[in-house]
Amino acid sequence: MNAPIGIFDSGVGGLTVAREIMRQLPGESLVYFGDTARVPYGSKSKNTVCKYSRQIVNFLMTKQVKAIVIACNTASALAVGEIREAVEVPVIDVVEPGAHMAAASTKNKSIGILGTESTIKSGIYEKYLHQLDSEITVVSKACPLFVPLVEEGLLEDRVTEDIVGRYLHEMKEYEIDALVLGCTHYPLLRGVIGREVGEKVKLVNPAYETAKSLKELLREQEILAPPESPVQYEYYVSDGVEKFISFADSVLPCHVEKTTVVDIESY
Ligand code: DGL
Repeated sequence: MNAPIGIFDSGVGGLTVAREIMRQLPGESLVYFGDTARVPYGSKSKNTVCKYSRQIVNFLMTKQVKAIVIACNTASALAVGEIREAVEVPVIDVVEPGAHMAAASTKNKSIGILGTESTIKSGIYEKYLHQLDSEITVVSKACPLFVPLVEEGLLEDRVTEDIVGRYLHEMKEYEIDALVLGCTHYPLLRGVIGREVGEKVKLVNPAYETAKSLKELLREQEILAPPESPVQYEYYVSDGVEKFISFADSVLPCHVEKTTVVDIESY
Protein backbone atom coordinates (compact mmCIF):
# COMPACT_ATOMS: atom_id res chain seq x y z
CA MET A 1 0.00 0.00 0.00
CA ASN A 2 1.48 3.29 -1.10
CA ALA A 3 0.81 5.45 1.98
CA PRO A 4 3.19 6.70 4.67
CA ILE A 5 3.54 5.49 8.25
CA GLY A 6 2.75 8.14 10.86
CA ILE A 7 5.15 8.26 13.78
CA PHE A 8 5.13 10.62 16.73
CA ASP A 9 6.97 11.49 19.90
CA SER A 10 7.04 14.25 22.51
CA GLY A 11 10.04 15.72 20.66
CA VAL A 12 13.29 14.57 19.12
CA GLY A 13 13.72 11.26 20.97
CA GLY A 14 11.37 9.33 18.71
CA LEU A 15 13.91 9.79 15.94
CA THR A 16 15.69 6.76 17.45
CA VAL A 17 12.56 4.78 16.52
CA ALA A 18 12.33 6.45 13.09
CA ARG A 19 15.97 5.48 12.51
CA GLU A 20 15.24 1.80 13.20
CA ILE A 21 12.21 1.90 10.89
CA MET A 22 14.32 3.49 8.13
CA ARG A 23 16.89 0.70 8.55
CA GLN A 24 14.49 -2.22 8.74
CA LEU A 25 11.86 -0.92 6.31
CA PRO A 26 13.80 1.14 3.77
CA GLY A 27 10.93 1.03 1.27
CA GLU A 28 8.44 2.80 3.57
CA SER A 29 7.65 6.52 3.64
CA LEU A 30 7.34 8.24 7.02
CA VAL A 31 5.57 11.28 8.44
CA TYR A 32 7.22 12.19 11.75
CA PHE A 33 5.73 14.58 14.28
CA GLY A 34 7.74 15.79 17.30
CA ASP A 35 5.85 17.78 19.91
CA THR A 36 8.84 20.02 20.63
CA ALA A 37 6.68 22.83 22.05
CA ARG A 38 5.16 20.66 24.80
CA VAL A 39 8.03 18.28 25.60
CA PRO A 40 8.63 16.66 28.11
CA TYR A 41 5.75 14.21 28.44
CA GLY A 42 7.66 12.14 30.99
CA SER A 43 6.53 14.18 33.98
CA LYS A 44 2.96 14.86 32.80
CA SER A 45 -0.35 13.28 33.78
CA LYS A 46 -2.29 10.69 31.79
CA ASN A 47 -5.00 13.26 30.91
CA THR A 48 -2.53 15.69 29.44
CA VAL A 49 -0.55 13.06 27.52
CA CYS A 50 -3.80 11.57 26.13
CA LYS A 51 -5.01 15.00 25.02
CA TYR A 52 -1.71 15.82 23.30
CA SER A 53 -1.50 12.38 21.68
CA ARG A 54 -5.05 12.63 20.31
CA GLN A 55 -4.29 16.01 18.71
CA ILE A 56 -1.15 14.58 17.10
CA VAL A 57 -3.01 11.54 15.81
CA ASN A 58 -5.70 13.84 14.34
CA PHE A 59 -2.91 15.69 12.53
CA LEU A 60 -1.25 12.48 11.28
CA MET A 61 -4.57 11.19 9.94
CA THR A 62 -4.76 14.26 7.67
CA LYS A 63 -1.62 12.84 6.02
CA GLN A 64 -3.48 9.62 5.09
CA VAL A 65 -1.13 7.41 7.09
CA LYS A 66 -1.69 3.65 6.84
CA ALA A 67 -0.43 2.92 10.38
CA ILE A 68 0.63 4.86 13.46
CA VAL A 69 3.73 4.24 15.56
CA ILE A 70 3.73 5.76 19.04
CA ALA A 71 7.48 6.24 19.34
CA CYS A 72 7.27 7.84 22.79
CA ASN A 73 7.41 5.41 25.72
CA THR A 74 5.42 7.76 27.94
CA ALA A 75 2.64 8.22 25.35
CA SER A 76 2.68 4.45 24.75
CA ALA A 77 2.34 3.83 28.49
CA LEU A 78 -0.46 6.35 29.04
CA ALA A 79 -2.37 6.76 25.79
CA VAL A 80 -2.20 3.65 23.58
CA GLY A 81 -5.75 2.51 24.51
CA GLU A 82 -7.30 5.91 23.70
CA ILE A 83 -5.41 6.15 20.42
CA ARG A 84 -6.46 2.67 19.29
CA GLU A 85 -10.07 3.60 19.99
CA ALA A 86 -9.78 6.86 18.09
CA VAL A 87 -8.42 5.60 14.75
CA GLU A 88 -9.11 2.82 12.30
CA VAL A 89 -5.54 2.28 11.15
CA PRO A 90 -3.29 -0.14 13.10
CA VAL A 91 -1.39 1.40 16.02
CA ILE A 92 1.95 0.10 17.30
CA ASP A 93 3.44 1.26 20.58
CA VAL A 94 7.01 0.89 21.84
CA VAL A 95 6.27 -0.71 25.21
CA GLU A 96 4.75 -4.04 24.18
CA PRO A 97 7.56 -5.07 21.75
CA GLY A 98 10.18 -4.07 24.35
CA ALA A 99 8.46 -6.10 27.08
CA HIS A 100 8.25 -9.16 24.80
CA MET A 101 11.96 -9.03 24.01
CA ALA A 102 12.84 -8.59 27.71
CA ALA A 103 10.75 -11.63 28.68
CA ALA A 104 12.36 -13.65 25.89
CA SER A 105 15.88 -12.55 26.94
CA THR A 106 15.87 -13.16 30.68
CA LYS A 107 17.11 -16.46 32.04
CA ASN A 108 16.95 -15.69 35.75
CA LYS A 109 13.55 -13.92 35.44
CA SER A 110 14.88 -10.70 36.88
CA ILE A 111 14.37 -7.67 34.61
CA GLY A 112 15.21 -4.00 35.05
CA ILE A 113 13.17 -1.19 33.50
CA LEU A 114 14.43 2.36 33.01
CA GLY A 115 12.01 5.09 31.93
CA THR A 116 10.54 8.50 32.58
CA GLU A 117 8.68 9.19 35.82
CA SER A 118 5.27 8.79 34.15
CA THR A 119 6.21 5.55 32.37
CA ILE A 120 7.56 4.00 35.57
CA LYS A 121 4.59 5.22 37.62
CA SER A 122 2.16 3.70 35.10
CA GLY A 123 3.47 0.18 35.85
CA ILE A 124 2.87 -0.73 32.20
CA TYR A 125 6.06 -2.78 31.72
CA GLU A 126 5.32 -4.85 34.86
CA LYS A 127 1.79 -5.43 33.56
CA TYR A 128 2.96 -6.80 30.21
CA LEU A 129 5.83 -8.79 31.76
CA HIS A 130 3.58 -10.42 34.35
CA GLN A 131 1.07 -11.31 31.65
CA LEU A 132 3.90 -13.06 29.82
CA ASP A 133 5.34 -14.75 32.91
CA SER A 134 4.00 -14.22 36.42
CA GLU A 135 7.33 -15.34 37.96
CA ILE A 136 9.31 -12.46 36.52
CA THR A 137 10.66 -9.96 39.06
CA VAL A 138 10.67 -6.39 37.79
CA VAL A 139 12.90 -3.65 39.19
CA SER A 140 12.04 -0.19 37.84
CA LYS A 141 13.80 3.13 38.00
CA ALA A 142 12.79 6.56 36.74
CA CYS A 143 15.80 8.40 35.29
CA PRO A 144 14.62 11.99 34.69
CA LEU A 145 18.12 13.39 34.09
CA PHE A 146 18.89 11.12 31.12
CA VAL A 147 16.75 13.06 28.61
CA PRO A 148 18.46 16.45 29.17
CA LEU A 149 21.89 14.78 29.14
CA VAL A 150 21.19 13.25 25.73
CA GLU A 151 19.74 16.48 24.36
CA GLU A 152 22.88 18.30 25.50
CA GLY A 153 24.92 15.76 23.54
CA LEU A 154 26.66 14.41 26.68
CA LEU A 155 26.52 10.80 25.49
CA GLU A 156 30.02 9.88 26.66
CA ASP A 157 30.85 12.24 29.50
CA ARG A 158 31.92 12.01 33.12
CA VAL A 159 28.74 13.74 34.27
CA THR A 160 26.67 11.13 32.43
CA GLU A 161 28.73 8.26 33.88
CA ASP A 162 28.20 9.68 37.35
CA ILE A 163 24.42 10.00 36.96
CA VAL A 164 24.07 6.59 35.32
CA GLY A 165 26.04 5.14 38.26
CA ARG A 166 23.72 6.78 40.78
CA TYR A 167 20.50 5.71 39.07
CA LEU A 168 21.62 2.12 38.53
CA HIS A 169 23.33 1.61 41.87
CA GLU A 170 20.32 0.03 43.60
CA MET A 171 19.27 -2.02 40.60
CA LYS A 172 22.61 -3.80 40.52
CA GLU A 173 21.75 -5.49 43.82
CA TYR A 174 18.91 -7.42 42.16
CA GLU A 175 21.13 -9.28 39.68
CA ILE A 176 18.95 -8.48 36.71
CA ASP A 177 20.01 -10.11 33.44
CA ALA A 178 17.92 -7.96 31.07
CA LEU A 179 17.45 -4.20 31.16
CA VAL A 180 14.86 -2.33 29.11
CA LEU A 181 15.94 1.10 27.85
CA GLY A 182 12.33 2.25 28.18
CA CYS A 183 12.57 5.82 26.91
CA THR A 184 13.29 7.13 23.42
CA HIS A 185 16.58 8.76 24.44
CA TYR A 186 18.12 5.93 26.45
CA PRO A 187 19.39 3.80 23.53
CA LEU A 188 21.76 6.72 22.85
CA LEU A 189 23.27 6.10 26.31
CA ARG A 190 23.68 2.39 25.76
CA GLY A 191 27.50 2.63 25.88
CA VAL A 192 27.59 4.15 29.38
CA ILE A 193 24.66 2.08 30.67
CA GLY A 194 26.18 -1.12 29.26
CA ARG A 195 29.49 -0.48 30.97
CA GLU A 196 27.74 0.26 34.26
CA VAL A 197 25.63 -2.93 34.36
CA GLY A 198 28.22 -5.21 32.73
CA GLU A 199 28.07 -7.40 29.68
CA LYS A 200 26.03 -10.17 31.32
CA VAL A 201 23.00 -7.89 31.28
CA LYS A 202 21.20 -7.84 27.93
CA LEU A 203 20.14 -4.31 26.99
CA VAL A 204 16.74 -4.26 25.31
CA ASN A 205 16.14 -1.43 22.85
CA PRO A 206 12.37 -1.01 22.34
CA ALA A 207 13.02 1.11 19.23
CA TYR A 208 14.61 -1.85 17.45
CA GLU A 209 11.88 -4.25 18.60
CA THR A 210 9.15 -1.82 17.51
CA ALA A 211 10.52 -1.60 13.97
CA LYS A 212 10.54 -5.42 13.87
CA SER A 213 6.91 -5.59 15.05
CA LEU A 214 5.91 -2.94 12.54
CA LYS A 215 7.46 -4.97 9.73
CA GLU A 216 5.51 -8.06 10.81
CA LEU A 217 2.28 -6.09 11.07
CA LEU A 218 2.64 -4.53 7.60
CA ARG A 219 3.35 -7.97 6.17
CA GLU A 220 0.43 -9.64 7.94
CA GLN A 221 -2.00 -6.94 6.90
CA GLU A 222 -0.52 -6.88 3.38
CA ILE A 223 0.05 -3.15 3.47
CA LEU A 224 3.80 -3.01 2.80
CA ALA A 225 4.79 -0.34 0.27
CA PRO A 226 4.94 -1.82 -3.25
CA PRO A 227 8.53 -2.38 -4.44
CA GLU A 228 10.03 0.58 -6.31
CA SER A 229 7.52 3.07 -4.90
CA PRO A 230 9.16 6.43 -4.05
CA VAL A 231 10.24 6.84 -0.43
CA GLN A 232 9.57 10.18 1.26
CA TYR A 233 10.32 11.38 4.77
CA GLU A 234 8.36 14.34 6.11
CA TYR A 235 9.05 16.03 9.44
CA TYR A 236 6.73 18.22 11.49
CA VAL A 237 7.24 19.83 14.89
CA SER A 238 5.30 22.17 17.16
CA ASP A 239 8.32 24.47 17.73
CA GLY A 240 12.12 24.85 17.47
CA VAL A 241 12.94 23.76 13.92
CA GLU A 242 16.69 24.40 14.16
CA LYS A 243 17.25 22.35 17.29
CA PHE A 244 15.17 19.56 15.80
CA ILE A 245 17.18 19.48 12.58
CA SER A 246 20.52 19.47 14.38
CA PHE A 247 19.46 16.57 16.65
CA ALA A 248 17.94 14.71 13.69
CA ASP A 249 21.17 15.02 11.75
CA SER A 250 23.07 13.44 14.63
CA VAL A 251 20.68 10.45 14.82
CA LEU A 252 19.27 9.71 11.36
CA PRO A 253 21.10 8.08 8.46
CA CYS A 254 19.97 10.92 6.16
CA HIS A 255 20.00 14.73 6.29
CA VAL A 256 16.75 16.45 7.22
CA GLU A 257 16.24 19.24 4.72
CA LYS A 258 12.90 20.58 5.75
CA THR A 259 10.84 20.60 8.94
CA THR A 260 7.47 22.30 9.14
CA VAL A 261 5.91 23.87 12.23
CA VAL A 262 2.34 22.80 12.92
CA ASP A 263 -0.17 24.53 15.22
CA ILE A 264 -0.93 21.25 16.98
CA GLU A 265 -3.40 22.82 19.46
CA SER A 266 -5.80 23.37 16.55
CA TYR A 267 -6.18 19.63 15.85
N1 DGL B 1 9.90 10.58 24.53
C1 DGL B 1 9.81 10.43 25.96
C2 DGL B 1 9.69 8.94 26.30
O1 DGL B 1 10.11 8.08 25.56
C3 DGL B 1 11.00 11.06 26.67
C4 DGL B 1 11.00 12.57 26.66
C5 DGL B 1 9.83 13.16 27.41
O2 DGL B 1 9.79 13.09 28.66
O3 DGL B 1 8.93 13.67 26.75
O4 DGL B 1 9.18 8.60 27.33
